[in-house]
Amino acid sequence: MIAGTKTRLRPIERDDLPRYVRWFGDPEVRRHLSVYLPFSLAQEEKWFEGLAGRLASGADVLLAIETSDGVHIGNIGLHNIDWKNRHAELGIVIGEQEYWGQGYGTDAIQTLLKVAFDEMNLQRVFLHVDADNQRGIRCYEKCGLQKEGTLRDTVFREGVYHDQLVMGILRNEFQL
Ligand SMILES: CC(C)(COP(=O)(O)OP(=O)(O)OC[C@H]1O[C@@H](n2cnc3c(N)ncnc32)[C@H](O)[C@@H]1OP(=O)(O)O)[C@@H](O)C(=O)NCCC(=O)NCCS
Repeated sequence: MIAGTKTRLRPIERDDLPRYVRWFGDPEVRRHLSVYLPFSLAQEEKWFEGLAGRLASGADVLLAIETSDGVHIGNIGLHNIDWKNRHAELGIVIGEQEYWGQGYGTDAIQTLLKVAFDEMNLQRVFLHVDADNQRGIRCYEKCGLQKEGTLRDTVFREGVYHDQLVMGILRNEFQL
């Protein structure tokens, strides 16, 4: 368990899978994710079978986000960890819509950034966010991530191409 201020991060358990089926079944949750179809429980179970191996390889970190009173509301991770150049891509989803916009995402990201910089010795953490994901952009700015550039027309969604922003934070810019 890694304690933040209003969230805590813990390993993912098999019992969490039915929640993922519900979260990714919600088009509003999927809207700004690379996931564009719902998943069945069987698909989630297959994904879970491969998870321990991927985490053991050191390429990814993936943790469940709980509120401080133990409600599982989302997941957060670091992906494609580049141990030579010391950077990784952050991914986050708060799957329970009623918890959006209340500071949980900010707290979970700050908690994971502390691990990334103080324990994993990374130099840079970055992410890609849809340019029309205002809630996400505001959340990442609050965490100290800066807009680094625009990937034009890089996501096709709802019949049109959308831009994405690359946002990132360096170790010496991180403050809790
Ligand atoms: C993006 C996400 C992780 C952010 O987490 P969160 O807990 O909702 O974010 P926070 O509450 O910490 O911060 C959101 C900020 O955006 C603001 N906000 C909310 N809706 C907004 C909108 N439509 N326009 C502008 N700002 C908005 C909030 O008020 C808050 O800012 P404030 O603290 O200054 O008031 C979460 O909403 C989520 O998982 N959404 C669905 C999936 C997703 O988009 N994942 C990220 C893909 S890159």
